[in-house]
Amino acid sequence: MVGDPADQAREAVVEAALARLGLDAKVRLLAGQDMWTLPALPEIGLASLVMSDGPIGVRGVRWTADDPSVALPSPTALAAGWDPELARRAGVLLAQEARRKGVHVLLAPTVNLHRSPLGGRHFEAYSEDPYLTGRIGAGYVSGVQSGGVGTTVKHFVANDAETERLTVNNLVAERTLRELYLAPFEAIVEHARPWGVMTAYNTVNGTTMTEHHHLVEEVLRGEWGFDGVNVSDWTAARSTADAIEGGLDIAMPGPVTVYGEALARAVRAGEVAEARVDAAVRNVLRLAARVGILAGAEPVVAEPPRPVDGQALAREIARRSFVLLRNEARAERPALPLRPGTVALTGAAARDARVLGGGSATVFPPRIVSPLDALTAALPEGTLTYTVGADPSTELATGEPGLDLRAVCRDAAGRVLGARGAPGGQIQWTGSDLPDGVTHDTLHTVELTGTFTPRESGTHTFGIRGLGAFTLTVDGTTHYDDVQRPTGGDPFAAFFNAPVPRAEAELTEGEPVEVSLTHVVRHPADGPLKNVIFAVAHQDPRRDPDELIAEAARAARDADTAVVVVATTERVESEGFDRTDLRLPGRQDDLVRAVAAANPNTVVVVNSGSPVELPWREEVAAVLLSWFPGQEGGAALADVLTGAYEPGGRLPTTWGSLTDAPVTRVVPENGELAYTEGVFIGHRAWEKAGRTPSYPFGHGLGYTDWTYESLHVADTTVTVRLRNTGERAGREVVQVYLAPSLPDPDRPARWLAGFAGAEAEPGESVEVTVDIPLRAFEIWAEKRWVVVKGSYEIQVGRSIGDRRLAATINV
Ligand code: BGC
Repeated sequence: MVGDPADQAREAVVEAALARLGLDAKVRLLAGQDMWTLPALPEIGLASLVMSDGPIGVRGVRWTADDPSVALPSPTALAAGWDPELARRAGVLLAQEARRKGVHVLLAPTVNLHRSPLGGRHFEAYSEDPYLTGRIGAGYVSGVQSGGVGTTVKHFVANDAETERLTVNNLVAERTLRELYLAPFEAIVEHARPWGVMTAYNTVNGTTMTEHHHLVEEVLRGEWGFDGVNVSDWTAARSTADAIEGGLDIAMPGPVTVYGEALARAVRAGEVAEARVDAAVRNVLRLAARVGILAGAEPVVAEPPRPVDGQALAREIARRSFVLLRNEARAERPALPLRPGTVALTGAAARDARVLGGGSATVFPPRIVSPLDALTAALPEGTLTYTVGADPSTELATGEPGLDLRAVCRDAAGRVLGARGAPGGQIQWTGSDLPDGVTHDTLHTVELTGTFTPRESGTHTFGIRGLGAFTLTVDGTTHYDDVQRPTGGDPFAAFFNAPVPRAEAELTEGEPVEVSLTHVVRHPADGPLKNVIFAVAHQDPRRDPDELIAEAARAARDADTAVVVVATTERVESEGFDRTDLRLPGRQDDLVRAVAAANPNTVVVVNSGSPVELPWREEVAAVLLSWFPGQEGGAALADVLTGAYEPGGRLPTTWGSLTDAPVTRVVPENGELAYTEGVFIGHRAWEKAGRTPSYPFGHGLGYTDWTYESLHVADTTVTVRLRNTGERAGREVVQVYLAPSLPDPDRPARWLAGFAGAEAEPGESVEVTVDIPLRAFEIWAEKRWVVVKGSYEIQVGRSIGDRRLAATINV
């Protein structure tokens, strides 16, 4: 416990409150009362603690588009900014959003590593590099908590893939854990003092993480001095005594958990010491005191910070995150910024932008600016054309704007209990969030009824996302009346499963038709979750793919520049499953090739949260990664394409083909996934394998040029002088790598040891200073950190593959 007076005062209030609680109240406080909250205990002046996902926005306790949240760019994008201060500012905005929504704790950030590019939640984590992850994560946590809102750094630890995520036993050597997977958590605990962590679903070396006494009690709390709360991932707590002994404070969600009454019984039976329960309650009360919901305790932040303009920040982070991978000269000038003239824009995602990843990270933004909207506004009238080109989505989409539906709830006798709007035809009522007048006990049937207005004429497909009994009627015809059954064991499958096509109808553009979907609600009697989750799904008429590509190529031929937006879909990047390849879905590769053949001045914008293969990259003039760019993504894209701003991002993770990628196994064998590659993941592994990726870690171009002029090293302080030798102001990310002078097969050839941003006007020279932390020279050996003495080269440059200056030091 850190001993500043405010902490001590809060601690005294916590102890006094704890002393007034009996066992039954204590155990209630350690168990969710519903999907997102803990119970209030009025007898000690404790209000109900509210938690919410996380990480790119604050969804709040309601999972619906009529309670919108600012959606920032994906965590991969935030990391591509290589700027902890930018991450801190994101955090400040998220604290503001949390306060607006009555949320005390944000279930974020995700600091698992990009061990393999196939990881399904890759987009939700920062980087393959533990140091960069720790720096960005610490900035984010500091920002959120500076707004008086708690964080839960997650998922502790080694939740780096999704296959069998609830049960997989990840076999990870202690050294690998320490140097890679634990490292970001350790750095964040040291630099940002998070008020919470979330323990993962998976098992590490034979012990499930919600019971991992060694990693939680000995390492996290014991060695690192973490004094926050440890909350389980949702449904990850599996036992009563082992979880409390393993240091798990809160079992979420409720009301059915392994804590509560079961924990009281275990104490009374002598299986668990009450002191263990007290320790957990103390952690929860400390968190409550910090966020200001425990009477008598002064919150850490009494005055919320100055208001932040979320829309403007979302746009700024997006353009600071875009990574310009390639920008070749065409007709004697680089393809970007766009030259004056006409632009042929193509790609389904240019119109229906994919701004965020799927799963629990989903939020509902108040608006989405697509590339088509933003370029139409930014370019002179009459200079932009748009074609769909290729639609990557082979499946139906939910939340379609043409669906205007309302939900009516009935009891078993058919009486109306209540009703609520259902924007986009989606119902996601989690926990106690139900329409007024409705309870889980009385609710029998939900009828979604209303209209669908087509934006095109032709054969439209409708379908259902969700599990259970459904009746789907379109334009007076009942197309489906049956039960959709689960296929796997994931408790959140209803969120993530693919929608199933169930009806086709010939419709006319602009003419509304009636649509209804009725669902009979059944909750498993003993299941922990009472959620009502289903949606009407829809797909526009399909056109012949060759014809679409030919149309795009024709438009490209007639324009000065062609811009192709390619994207992944929710089926590719989401939660609960991993990827099986890195290809762009559908005919998008064919589209790029056809457009590039028609117009050499082709710019490709890649709208994905994680790496995809770019087999045509040498055939196009420019490649710009826009990640999942958040709600203002289109506006930021127009800023960067037109040259109003330069793209500021650098790769936080190596991009290459799956065939070359060194670490690709995410599928357990007999329930086990061995991290046999040890400390060699990401750029460390690419270098060890002697393979050249498509684009190396740290790579990214701006709109100006930089010359690295000098490097000076004093002790472990590195000073770099560089000059902006281009024609416009810019920002450079100066990267410092540490390489043992004598190659050591047990260590990477080099690793990231520091970085700093530099800004300069054209012609101006600037100096940046980077302090290399002692940890950069250490390895985990014999149960402790050991400095590896010897000679090291300090290499400074623009990416791991473009090192400009070097100096040798002896340690
Ligand atoms: C995810 C967590 C998330 C939680 C609550 C889980 O399935 O793994 O990251 O915070 O659900 O939505």
